[in-house]
Amino acid sequence: MLKQDLADISSQKLLHAKAWAEVYELIDVQLSPLGLGAIKKLGLSAGDTVADIGCGAGQTLLQLAEQVGTEGQVIGVDVAPLLLEIAGQRTKPLSQVRLIQADAESLDLPSESLDVVFSPFGVMSFNDPVSAFTNFRRLLKPSGKLAFSCWRALEDNELDHFPLSAVGIRAKVDETPFSFADPEYIHGILEAAGFEEIVIQSHDEKVSSGDLDAMTSVLLKVGPLGKIIRENPALRATSEPRLRQALAALGDPSVVQLLASVWVVTARTKAAPR
Ligand SMILES: C[S@@+](CC[C@H](N)C(=O)[O-])C[C@H]1O[C@@H](n2cnc3c(N)ncnc32)[C@H](O)[C@@H]1O
Repeated sequence: MLKQDLADISSQKLLHAKAWAEVYELIDVQLSPLGLGAIKKLGLSAGDTVADIGCGAGQTLLQLAEQVGTEGQVIGVDVAPLLLEIAGQRTKPLSQVRLIQADAESLDLPSESLDVVFSPFGVMSFNDPVSAFTNFRRLLKPSGKLAFSCWRALEDNELDHFPLSAVGIRAKVDETPFSFADPEYIHGILEAAGFEEIVIQSHDEKVSSGDLDAMTSVLLKVGPLGKIIRENPALRATSEPRLRQALAALGDPSVVQLLASVWVVTARTKAAPR
């Protein structure tokens, strides 16, 4: 694994990565359908070179590697060493996958070296989004494609607001995961970064990590409730039974589903002049 210069990884990001690593298999079941929705928009071909920004534990690396084949290349980028370690184990047999531990905002790869920059839920916490996407545009070949998915507003995402109201927590919610909720904001960033053919499509889907135990365990670790509990572990004891009871009341305990609302965003770099 290549390590590029890392600006300080915040302790919040490390705690998030630790929680994610503990339940990554259950999160994959939940998020994989949403990631696949964005992968389908890429129109990848065998031999393409694609970067997966914020690749986490590597589920989408596996899906991308299958599409580009052994003649292509998939570059997984993440700031969290713990998640890259898991991604590395999962992709070990795949010669077309390489991993870089870096802050994606300043990803240092050769200009015009990528066919596609892809990111499922990995772009919302950039300090300077215009500069990060300008860098992605630099890395892309002329007519290269950008595609990412990001959360819509908290109030549109039952997956996030249901657990909070179920446990009755009134603490201030970290809005970072929802920072791309406004499509005009996304459009403005991509335009300023030099992208064109910008398409921002809404996608709603009920998602699940499986049964009542699985869903309770994931929602207590990640998402807005998970973050509050990570920072205030004493809240876990009262939150768990309340969340479990509210989820059980939704119906079938063997598959507990909540609605996720996302934007699937695609754009292109400008074609080279003839
Ligand atoms: C919500 S998770 C999504 C993980 C994975 N894409 C998935 O869908 O399962 C966001 C990921 O982006 C990574 N990340 C956040 N900011 C980053 C940055 N500036 N540079 C690189 N990775 C970043 C986090 O470490 C985390 O793994």
